Amino acid sequence: RAFDVAVLGATGLVGQNMIEILEERGFPVNTLYPLASSRSAGGKVTFKGKELTVLDADTFDWSKVQLGFFSAGGSVSEKYAPLAADAGCVVIDNTSQFRYEPDIPLVVPEVNAHALADFRNRNIIANPNCSTIQMMVALKPIQDAVGIARINVSTYQSVSGAGKSAMEELARQTTDLLSGREIKPKAFNRQIAFNAIPQIDVFMDNDYTKEEMKMVWETRKIMGDETILVNATAVRVPVFFGHGEAIHLETHSPIDAEDVKQLLSAAPGVTLMENREDFPTQVGNASGTDEVYVGRVRNDISHPNGINMWVVSDNVRKGAATNSVQIAEVLIRDYM
Ligand code: A2P
Repeated sequence: RAFDVAVLGATGLVGQNMIEILEERGFPVNTLYPLASSRSAGGKVTFKGKELTVLDADTFDWSKVQLGFFSAGGSVSEKYAPLAADAGCVVIDNTSQFRYEPDIPLVVPEVNAHALADFRNRNIIANPNCSTIQMMVALKPIQDAVGIARINVSTYQSVSGAGKSAMEELARQTTDLLSGREIKPKAFNRQIAFNAIPQIDVFMDNDYTKEEMKMVWETRKIMGDETILVNATAVRVPVFFGHGEAIHLETHSPIDAEDVKQLLSAAPGVTLMENREDFPTQVGNASGTDEVYVGRVRNDISHPNGINMWVVSDNVRKGAATNSVQIAEVLIRDYM
């Protein structure tokens, strides 16, 4: 059976990747409807060697599709997801709009595919935040084996997480600065070229950013464990694709780094880089792939139940588009 599919945000970075990945993985698509705002309606995208015309989401008849991949921003999902869901389209939403609603599944297929059983509650499934996804894939086997009491994580996040305009800003600023020209930050509130910015998304009342709190809320929901403590610092770095994460764990019972490596070498979606010199990087390993790479696994010399690791993945692919398509694959295999 093949499905009629809408991609909302089809002209954006994640949307374009979504269309490529649907093709790449051979997802059973009958008709694909690329949707965006009236600004880019009439434009073209390519799917399976054919040019398709971008349609205005505002006038789209949602009853034409059984599946919708949404990645056009929270307010756009807020407006169209309920319309689509009411028309019988199952929405896989990449924004944070619905993630924290208790009756909406928040899914990383390698970790909690079982949560998809509730997709008919609202006909909406939420795709988690990119930084959370890669952390969950890497930590699930450890949670299952010994339990995780606390996660202390610092992220090194690429600009693609902020969309096309942010990538253009990094490229432009880099050449402008090297050419001795003045720069004016716009997509970020500080210079991003040759710099690191410890603010992603807005500040909350508790002085954490929303990006940091997403990792707290989403970890608990995906692991199904409200006791896990998460302390995050999220930092934007001048890298185009891929997020890095320095993760420090405190487990309930002690586990040796060698045993963690054993677990990770068998974990779905994980590529373990066992030798210390082989550590993964954004450009060298993650970018353009769907795997979560783990390296630098070692015992924490400062804590008896502590484990350290470095986790890298492509935020646009596994962190967004690929994870959404994997959700759809489980959905059509087991539920639709
Ligand atoms: P458009 O090309 O019409 O602006 P990115 O994250 O790379 O910036 O991409 C954002 C995506 O979301 C684009 O495809 C953009 O389409 C789409 N988008 C933004 N606002 C709306 C809207 N109000 N209605 C539909 N699509 C939107």
